[in-house]
Amino acid sequence: MAKRNLLLGLLAITCTLAIANDPGPLQDFCVADTNSSTRVNGLVCLDPKSVQANHFYFSGLHLPGNTSNPVGSKVTLVSVTQVPGLNTLGISIARVDYARCGLNPPHLHPRATEILTVVEGTLFAGCVTSNPENRLITKVLYEGDVFVFPVGLPHFQINVGNGSAVAISALSSQNPGVITIANAVFGSNPSIADDVLAKAFQIDKTVIDQLLANF
Ligand SMILES: *[C@@H]1O[C@H](CO)[C@@H](O)[C@H](O)[C@H]1NC(C)=O
Ligand SMILES: *[C@@H]1O[C@H](CO)[C@@H](O)[C@H](O)[C@H]1NC(C)=O
Ligand SMILES: *[C@@H]1O[C@H](CO)[C@@H](O)[C@H](O)[C@H]1NC(C)=O
Repeated sequence: MAKRNLLLGLLAITCTLAIANDPGPLQDFCVADTNSSTRVNGLVCLDPKSVQANHFYFSGLHLPGNTSNPVGSKVTLVSVTQVPGLNTLGISIARVDYARCGLNPPHLHPRATEILTVVEGTLFAGCVTSNPENRLITKVLYEGDVFVFPVGLPHFQINVGNGSAVAISALSSQNPGVITIANAVFGSNPSIADDVLAKAFQIDKTVIDQLLANF
């Protein structure tokens, strides 16, 4: 019986750890002191007496991002880098602009679940589950629709409407991080050896070399 309780206790602790992303705050706020050279998990707190409204403020998400790039989309992220007051609070926000047919390419956030709201236009959104199923879950989203991308799962959105599109995403980390699949695989610095990639993708090395040259 005692053993069972211990197991249940351990399970409860594991579940708490597994649910949490950024650790919870231990005070009202901990505005990041970006001048401190002390290294901690997150950023050091500024003296609360020097905290001002501007530490919690950002202006500019009304402005469209520049989508003149090969994928035709632009993410404007407002995280702890832009708003030091987000330090320890476990959230951030982003605006995503899509040109006609624009793509926010397959990527994942190592530290955040994302909840996306379509503000304008029509998007086709998808996300892929882990091995071995690798199930693709997709949905066409219209203005006002909301879709969730669970933490760590690769996902994408493509504009399938007739005009441009805009989405606002909330993320469950002050610093969600982004790993764009294509860049990580074909654009790493230094490059992953082409024979490694040729074997992984089961294609000819010349095709891999072409892909590597694109990044
Ligand atoms: C960082 O240091 C600079 C120069 O001393 C100062 O102007 C600035 O206000 C400081 N920033 C913070 C967040 O304390
Ligand atoms: C948008 O980005 C393109 C490519 O970098 C650049 O040529 C263009 O001037 C930018 N447009 C604006 C309005 O900043
Ligand atoms: C795009 O325009 C066509 C023709 O006007 C219309 O039939 C179609 O429903 C539109 N598609 C979307 C996603 O708005």
